[in-house]
Amino acid sequence: MNYNKKTVKDIDVSGKKVLLRCDFNVPQDKTTGAITDDKRIRAALPTIQYLLDQGAAVIACSHLGKPKGEVKPELSLKPVSVRLSELLGKPVIMAGDVVGPDAKAKAAALKPGQIMLLENTRFEKGETKNDPALAKAMADMAEIYVSDAFGAVHRAHASTAGVADYLPAVSGFLIQKELEIIGGALANPKRPLVAILGGSKVSSKIGVINNLLEIADTIIIGGGMAYTFSAAQGGKVGDSLLEADWMDYSKEMVEKAAAKGVKLLLPVDTVCADKFAPDANSQVVKAGEIPDGWQGLDIGPETVALYCAAVQDAGTVIWNGPMGVFEFPAFAKGTEAVAEALSRTNAITIIGGGDSAAAVQQLGYADKMTHISTGGGASLEFMEGKELPGVACLLDA
Ligand code: 3PG
Repeated sequence: MNYNKKTVKDIDVSGKKVLLRCDFNVPQDKTTGAITDDKRIRAALPTIQYLLDQGAAVIACSHLGKPKGEVKPELSLKPVSVRLSELLGKPVIMAGDVVGPDAKAKAAALKPGQIMLLENTRFEKGETKNDPALAKAMADMAEIYVSDAFGAVHRAHASTAGVADYLPAVSGFLIQKELEIIGGALANPKRPLVAILGGSKVSSKIGVINNLLEIADTIIIGGGMAYTFSAAQGGKVGDSLLEADWMDYSKEMVEKAAAKGVKLLLPVDTVCADKFAPDANSQVVKAGEIPDGWQGLDIGPETVALYCAAVQDAGTVIWNGPMGVFEFPAFAKGTEAVAEALSRTNAITIIGGGDSAAAVQQLGYADKMTHISTGGGASLEFMEGKELPGVACLLDA
């Protein structure tokens, strides 16, 4: 895939109506609806500010949650418009619909230097089906399409890809940064490239493991998926997470790594618990020797030492998935030690979105990393080497 895309700097936006796709899919408190993390709104600010400074009239849009084509008031983008307005220090005009009479009238009246926000694009049935009629109706309100919704570039939806059929389409600064850093690490990494893969399931990381086996010098496996690898080597995993259907695949990956000369590191010891709970009794055992009735919830101290040594002289580290159940402090040590080791290296450190980003933030290492992706599924599919429809639709530089 070509990551070299035109950006807002390559097109004259002054005096133009710009449809700006953001990823304002922010977490909200279930009872009050309050936004609990505004990182994604903040991440869109440089592009919004640039467009406004250039005298564009900005028609921002985004999805929020999964309303499945129905208008769900609890998934209105109204709270986002309020937060965005606070952050920008200027009014954000909120439309009552996506391509209905209110949105159209407000878009038509929008002046250079003003910003409005359309309602949740997924209130429209055609959004997730990439319906050309919806894409055209959105495009008709504007003259230029800018996408800065990195978190949604893996979706071929009307507002993330379809509109690019009707308008000149360029990227904002957030997508540009994600493409440069993650794309750069995949295409032309500073070596050695070490990939740390964790999380609960092998099945959700197959694509990433496969792709990184072609690129990385070292692959480190942790988290729940390590037990499937361990069982595939004949280890005893007790009550640990196990995907029996993926044992053969895990074995193949170990063989493939050996054949390719990629160093694949698996845990040598495990912190196991007598139940899945923050106050469980725990003990450290050798990997593959987890007693019946016990389950692995973190990598052990010898593994921590091994993994920290492996990232020490890395040129680039890509991390996707925690090493253990970091939500329980007693089982967060492995994830924390790896985060700490990354904070001390001179390597370019890239954290995939989702759980790994949450772990790094929760453990207080966020500002020590080169880049924390704003995309969960999007960064995963990027690392799988898949084409991203929301990037492919943008004009090549
Ligand atoms: C995300 O939160 O990963 C993006 O906003 C995409 O959301 P989705 O998985 O609902 O498409």
